[in-house]
Formats: sequence, structure tokens, C-alpha cells
Amino acid sequence: MSEKKCTWLVTGGSGFIGSNFIKLARANGWANIINVDKLTYAGNPTNLKELEGDEGYTFVRADTTDREAIQKVFDDYSPDAVVNFAAESHVDRSIDSPGEFVHTNVVGTFTMLEEARRYWSSCADKRKGEFRFLHVSTDEVYGSLGFDDEPFKETTAYDPSSPYSASKAASDHFVSSYYRTYGLPTLTTNCSNNYGPYQFPEKLIPLMVLNAVEEKPLPVYGDGKNIRDWLYVDDHCKAIKQVLNAGRIGETYNIGGRCELTNIDLVRTLCAVLDEVKPRTNGDPYSSLITFVKDRPGHDRRYAIDDSKIAQELDWNPQESFTSGLRKTVEWYLDNAEWTEAVQNGTYRDWIAKNYNER
Ligand code: NAD
Ligand code: DAU
Repeated sequence: MSEKKCTWLVTGGSGFIGSNFIKLARANGWANIINVDKLTYAGNPTNLKELEGDEGYTFVRADTTDREAIQKVFDDYSPDAVVNFAAESHVDRSIDSPGEFVHTNVVGTFTMLEEARRYWSSCADKRKGEFRFLHVSTDEVYGSLGFDDEPFKETTAYDPSSPYSASKAASDHFVSSYYRTYGLPTLTTNCSNNYGPYQFPEKLIPLMVLNAVEEKPLPVYGDGKNIRDWLYVDDHCKAIKQVLNAGRIGETYNIGGRCELTNIDLVRTLCAVLDEVKPRTNGDPYSSLITFVKDRPGHDRRYAIDDSKIAQELDWNPQESFTSGLRKTVEWYLDNAEWTEAVQNGTYRDWIAKNYNER
């Protein structure tokens, strides 16, 4: 696809990864962006404040499950590609209230596919040939690995454990069915745990930073030995751009950070960074705040990614080291008190009480 004068319809662009993606896209002139976001608790217009006045950026508040609204967006903006980030994304919330996950992740993706298909079918041949529908998914669809198992490949069988990962798996299947059945030029990416600025503080890294500076316990689920693979958010965004521009249609690409860590090691490392950049007034190490709490039900033991396909076919490799990425991330949360205070509102506090008080 030509990179010039493209318009990308990005869903869920006001969330963590979407907002980082849009800012990179605009800063580097990848494309003009139409951001379609419902603005749930996780969507925050402040994340994109720096794009105010940018004529290449348009925001449309809409729900991806709203067929009429999505039809209008396609008709109004004639996008060259869709990047589908919109989702309910937190595993613990999916265990608490799975219905919203089915609605947004499955029905929302289905609605985007249907409207993309209608629009794409009506395009002239050249435009039709260049159109892409990129669906952003997760490594969690593959389920849990043992310590000695080979990392997930694109051919690993789906085996989701949580309502979140089951809903993402269902959406991935819809995407590949639209390629096989209708020929819609789809691409799917399955990525591991992202971290970086603007992540909502329900997720492990920002939650631990904010709890630590408020002298609150650092709640580690179970024995803390669950393993996740960590990727700095900008590296994920660059991988998505690479897949969009050069990926083979109908294909899936796994994206990972080549950085497997147990949760307890990660939290201890994070505490050590905080000890350096913002020492506690009582002189104790932040690690003394670590508290082991009741495990997450169905908690996957290990994720690991074999990213050789994207590395070999598209020449993508992660650029940020975990050491520098974590430090940048911690410093961003410490330097952005206005943002962190605004997102820790009543709804956030209700969620924290619900998820942690009984643990
Ligand atoms: P997030 O929760 O921070 O943001 C989700 C965004 O989607 C929010 O802006 C929200 O308002 C919007 N949204 C939710 N429901 C919507 C709807 N019905 N219509 C329109 N907008 C809606 O999520 P994130 O962490 O940025 O993840 C983005 C995508 O990347 C998700 O699809 C997720 O499954 C996937 N992913 C995330 C990670 C990760 O580590 N965060 C890793 C791999 C894949
Ligand atoms: O692997 C990709 C996935 O990573 C994405 O698809 C999800 O959208 C994203 O939320 C993330 O899912 P996780 O469940 O891995 O992320 P979370 O930050 O919630 O948890 C990371 C690990 O830390 C997990 O093993 C659970 C553990 N944890 C989490 C929280 C919030 C704790 O021990 N304590 C906590 O308080």
C-alpha cells in the first residue's frame, strides 16, 4: 500500500495503545487518522490532546457495535485501511463482567467487518486491491504455556482461558473467516504485554507505580511466578504499521518483546527503579510493600512469543530494551500527576475496591 495520502480508520484510538499509535502515525506522517472511539472508562481524550489543531486527525465518538454510525464513518471518510484496536481489554474485568467483552470484542469486530466488507465491495478495483483491515489481537488467545514449552507460533492452536481471551479469539476467527469467505484483505496481529505511557492504571505496571508512590500494598497475584513477555508500546505500534504496509493478506503475525519475566521479578525491578528515582521518605525499599494476594481464576502461567515470522518477512525487531523502557515509563507516571489523578476518579476507585478488597 502506498504510504502517501492514506487515511486510516483507527478504532479504540483513545485508549493506551491506540493513542500511542495515532501520535506516532501523525508525528511520522504515516497517514491521516480518523479515530472512532466510544470513550469507555479506558478511553481518554487527553491522551491525544497534542493533536488539537492537526488537520490530519479527526475524532468521531461512536461505538463499534453501532452499525449505522460505523456505516456513516466509512461513507464519510472512505478509508484506505482499518486498524481495529477497540476492545474491552482487562482480564480481571472480564472475569467480573464478561457480557461487555462479548459485546464489544465480538459484536464490535463483527460490525466493523460487515461495514468494511460493504464499503470495500463498492470500491473501484485499485482501491479495493489496496484496502486493508488490520485486527489487533493478543497472545492470550493461545492459552497457557508450561515453563519448557516452545513459544507461541502463528500456527499454535487457540486455547483461551478467560472471557477476555475467548472474546478476542472469537473476533480473530471472524476476521479470518472474512478473508476466506469474502476475500476481504485482512491482517491479524497477536501481541504480548505492552507497557509504556498512557496505560490505564488497572494494569500491572502502572498500578504498581501508583500504589507504590501512595505507600499502598503492591498486590501480586498467587505466587508471582506467572510469566509474561513485555514489549514497549512504540515497538508494538511500529510492528502494526509494518504489517499494515507490507504484511501478506490473510496472514497472522505474532509480535513479542523477547523479554520474559515472572511477575515478581518485574515488580521487584520496578521497585528498584523507584528506589532510585523517588526514594521513600522513610528510607525503606519499595519492595517491602509487596503483598501476595489471592490468585486470578484461570490465571495463565506463561506467555512467550516466537516472532521469527515478522522479523524475517517484515524486518521488524523490538528497539527498546526493558531496562530503558521501564525507566521511561516509571518517570512518565511520576511526571504526569495531572493525568494520573484525573484517571483515578470514582469509577476507578470503585473498580480497585471491587477487585482488591476481597483478595
Ligand atoms: P485500552 O483498554 O487501553 O483501550 C481500549 C479503547 O477502546 C478505549 O479507548 C475505549 O474507549 C475503546 N472502546 C472500547 N469499547 C469500544 C466500543 N464498543 N466502540 C469504540 N471504542 C471502544 O486497550 P489497549 O490496552 O490499548 O488495547 C488495545 C487493543 O490491543 C485491544 O484490542 C487489545 O485486545 C489489544 N492488545 C493489548 C495488549 C496490551 O498489553 N495492552 C496486548 C496485545 C493486544
Ligand atoms: O498478553 C497480552 C495481554 O496483556 C493483553 O491482551 C491484555 O489486554 C492486557 O491487559 C495484558 O493482560 P494481562 O492479564 O497479562 O495484564 P495485567 O497487567 O492485568 O497482568 C499482568 C500480570 O500481572 C498477570 O499475570 C496478572 C498479574 N497481576 C496483575 C495485576 C493487575 C498481578 O499480579 N497483580 C495485579 O494487581
